[in-house]
Amino acid sequence: MSIVHLNGRNLPAEEACVPVLDRGFIFGDGVYEVIPVFGGRPFRLDEHLRRLENSLAEVRIPNPHTREEWAALIQSLIEANGGGDQSLYLQVTRGPAARDHALPENPAPTVFAMSNPLRPPAPEIIEHGIEAITLDDIRWSRCHIKAISLLPNILLRQTALDAGAAEAILIRDGYATEGAASNLFVVLDGELLTPPKGPRLLPGITRDVILELAAANGIPHREADIRREDLARASEIWVTSSTKEILPVTRLDDAPVGDGRPGPVFRKMYALYQANKAALRTP
Ligand code: PDD
Repeated sequence: MSIVHLNGRNLPAEEACVPVLDRGFIFGDGVYEVIPVFGGRPFRLDEHLRRLENSLAEVRIPNPHTREEWAALIQSLIEANGGGDQSLYLQVTRGPAARDHALPENPAPTVFAMSNPLRPPAPEIIEHGIEAITLDDIRWSRCHIKAISLLPNILLRQTALDAGAAEAILIRDGYATEGAASNLFVVLDGELLTPPKGPRLLPGITRDVILELAAANGIPHREADIRREDLARASEIWVTSSTKEILPVTRLDDAPVGDGRPGPVFRKMYALYQANKAALRTP
């Protein structure tokens, strides 16, 4: 039975209850984080907590915990769920209040966290890659906030699944922004590119790790706008996230990407990422 955290207490998932008037339930009024845990240790915890603080500030939900309290809460939940590898989900909503669009005067945020299994991508996926399709980015204009209201992302992802693809690559005003639940990288003319941070995309923690690894290992890279047409010219396309790690996209919109197989820059980065992960497991 999995153990969850709710408002200061660890308890079995089945026993955790939230009031029906919680603004997370009524309005989708809340923010979240997904933190990968390797060998019982949260990966890039400070970066995830900084992004959470930023999301909370952007939507004007008072942060219910200090960084130290967040870290202790997370560690306690990891241990309550047996350590090892996990995907830690954290959510803060504005809490229960009479339904009114206006913000409640004295909000009592609801803090919820749970542990989900974290499995590395299957070897077949690393060997062959995934298929993706491009779709118009129908989301709002503040995608840098990790908001729990994910209806557009859900519909985009499902449209991709219905088309037999694993992820949607989103296009806004002619530019590729990110995936429905991932960031985007392309290799174009020998250079690794990813769109710059800003309100059109979530500042992914995995994205930052990849840029750091590229810098430390002499892989030519740059943050740059990626036009829709660039995708067709790219020799490699990847999508990245805390739970998917790095996935090579080998077919886009029913056409092969490059030679239709995961490329050499992916293979190098994948190995670097795995080594980075393994280092976290070694005390
Ligand atoms: N999503 N962009 C979007 C829209 C995302 O939802 C995610 C991750 C990312 C990658 O961010 P990171 O590298 O920090 O995981 C980019 C999480 C995993 C989710 O919603 O489950």
